[in-house]
Amino acid sequence: MTRPTWDLVVLGAVVALLGFGTVAWGLRSRRGSSVWVGVFVLATAGLFFHQAVRISRLPPRNPIPATEQSVQLGHQLYRAHCAVCHGSEGRGDGPAAASLVPRPADLRRTARMADPLLFTRITEGLPGTAMPAFRDVLTEEERWHVVNFLRALADRP
Ligand code: HEC
Repeated sequence: MTRPTWDLVVLGAVVALLGFGTVAWGLRSRRGSSVWVGVFVLATAGLFFHQAVRISRLPPRNPIPATEQSVQLGHQLYRAHCAVCHGSEGRGDGPAAASLVPRPADLRRTARMADPLLFTRITEGLPGTAMPAFRDVLTEEERWHVVNFLRALADRP
């Protein structure tokens, strides 16, 4: 789920061409200053590419509205995949919790994290803890339903 950053890539390519052209022209006409200007322009192109990659790696926004149906779906998935550790109410007190170090997080607290961060946690898991990665277990859509459920969980008193 990458965002459209092609405008940045195209811009970077145009600037890179300009940079190469300036360097080549500087070398040909033996003008040191032009070579340096060209190198500077090339570095600018590098910045555009860097930015394009950075943006495409940002976690995506939540594409699924938190309707009652989505929250319910998320609840079902939560009971099947998460409650064993995080507890049926998200308190971090599921049947498997006692034996885990660190203990599973209290999700009523962590659900205040922004949606994309929650999504990333669920997708990638937390290395160094028992929190598994659900990339291959739940579809992208299912993970967003779970995020919507966690959000609703946090809103409860
Ligand atoms: C095998 C046990 C286990 C299962 C199953 C599990 N988790 Fe976790 N989870 C953990 C542990 C342990 C942590 C790390 C606790 C900490 O570092 O505070 C964690 C951390 C998290 C965090 C990050 C909390 C933070 O403070 O960064 C989120 C969000 C989370 N789990 C959600 C889920 C969801 C949603 C599911 C089901 C799709 C799930 N977990 C399934 C054990 C589990």
